Amino acid sequence: MGAAALLSALGGVLGQTPGSSHPSTTKNLGAVFNTTEVTPNILLSEELVDDYAPTTYLDESLTGTYMVMLVDLAIPQSSITTTGPEFYPGLVYCRTTRLHWYQGNLTQTSNGTFASNSSAIATYGGPAPGLDDIAHTYTFYLFKQPDNFTLPAWDAGRTYNPISVYDRMNFSVDAIAAVAGAPIAANYFRVQDPNNTAYGTADNGTCPLNSTTTATPTRDVASTGAAMRSELGWGLALVAVATVAFSML
Ligand SMILES: *[C@@H]1O[C@H](CO)[C@@H](O)[C@H](O)[C@H]1NC(C)=O
Ligand SMILES: *[C@@H]1O[C@H](CO)[C@@H](O)[C@H](O)[C@H]1NC(C)=O
Ligand SMILES: *[C@@H]1O[C@H](CO)[C@@H](O)[C@H](O)[C@H]1NC(C)=O
Ligand SMILES: *[C@@H]1O[C@H](CO)[C@@H](O)[C@H](O)[C@H]1NC(C)=O
Ligand SMILES: *[C@@H]1O[C@H](CO)[C@@H](O)[C@H](O)[C@H]1NC(C)=O
Ligand SMILES: *[C@@H]1O[C@H](CO)[C@@H](O)[C@H](O)[C@H]1NC(C)=O
Ligand SMILES: *[C@@H]1O[C@H](CO)[C@@H](O)[C@H](O)[C@H]1NC(C)=O
Ligand SMILES: *[C@@H]1O[C@H](CO)[C@@H](O)[C@H](O)[C@H]1NC(C)=O
Ligand SMILES: *[C@@H]1O[C@H](CO)[C@@H](O)[C@H](O)[C@H]1NC(C)=O
Repeated sequence: MGAAALLSALGGVLGQTPGSSHPSTTKNLGAVFNTTEVTPNILLSEELVDDYAPTTYLDESLTGTYMVMLVDLAIPQSSITTTGPEFYPGLVYCRTTRLHWYQGNLTQTSNGTFASNSSAIATYGGPAPGLDDIAHTYTFYLFKQPDNFTLPAWDAGRTYNPISVYDRMNFSVDAIAAVAGAPIAANYFRVQDPNNTAYGTADNGTCPLNSTTTATPTRDVASTGAAMRSELGWGLALVAVATVAFSML
């Protein structure tokens, strides 16, 4: 095996970010939901990850200030109704991103866990992927927080709190990395709707609706209920936008 192939194979083993997603890192960010340790690509129950952000930690000592975020990399692009010119790319064709959690001003405590007294930039919203969609992939990124950090243009000017369905989509982690540097550590897990009986259309997302076609999207009642249950406050937004599928969070 050549050096490049060996490095690539090691990357596959050691990578703490999924597939060819970017930015990437080989350093593991510890994350624990209740008592369950996240290991890269582990499939977790929606119930476990529903309500509370995990404890995050690193097995080395850091000084300074950090930020952690959790991003779904598998939102079907069709769920963004205001079709813009550009989507931040998700894991595969026609999938994009959605921010689930963004906490800044973190410092490491003596046992390695991260703690902050600041309000979250985006409060934690539990995964609730669509009924009969593939399992979505949720990635944690730990970044060093630059002095006087403000959100880069791509991600700025949005309403992240209270939890917004749409303003949290199309979130760019690369834009954060461009100002904060490469992530220090990362980790990822998958969640699927517990009521899945099928897995949608393979890995590809659904491309944005073409308004000149006759296809009528159907609203997924079961997973809309899940979203409202797990992220109180979404109800109004869900009702207001009506028929386009929301089953992808
Ligand atoms: C956490 O784990 C305990 C012990 O297994 C369990 O009783 C409790 O319901 C769990 N809490 C959540 C939020 O999953
Ligand atoms: C995604 O975000 C970028 C930067 O804010 C914006 O230019 C683009 O229109 C957005 N795309 C969609 C589909 O919302
Ligand atoms: C950190 O805390 C300061 C002071 O409260 C606040 O202005 C700033 O927005 C916080 N930064 C982040 C990334 O949370
Ligand atoms: C780690 O330290 C923090 C701050 O002292 C504390 O709140 C937390 O319970 C500790 N966690 C563990 C697993 O010991
Ligand atoms: C939060 O505030 C408390 C009380 O002032 C302080 O003891 C603690 O160290 C602070 N934690 C962090 C992470 O800044
Ligand atoms: C951060 O802001 C403070 C107060 O405005 C300023 O004194 C300091 O130079 C800034 N630091 C950086 C690195 O821009
Ligand atoms: C996924 O999208 C790619 C790019 O358009 C296409 O080549 C491929 O056939 C699609 N796969 C499925 C299963 O739809
Ligand atoms: C939408 O569908 C029409 C009819 O099939 C096609 O001509 C048009 O190119 C499509 N537009 C986009 C943006 O895909
Ligand atoms: C799964 O289906 C059950 C029975 O209809 C329902 O109570 C539950 O809320 C559903 N779970 C989710 C996450 O949609």
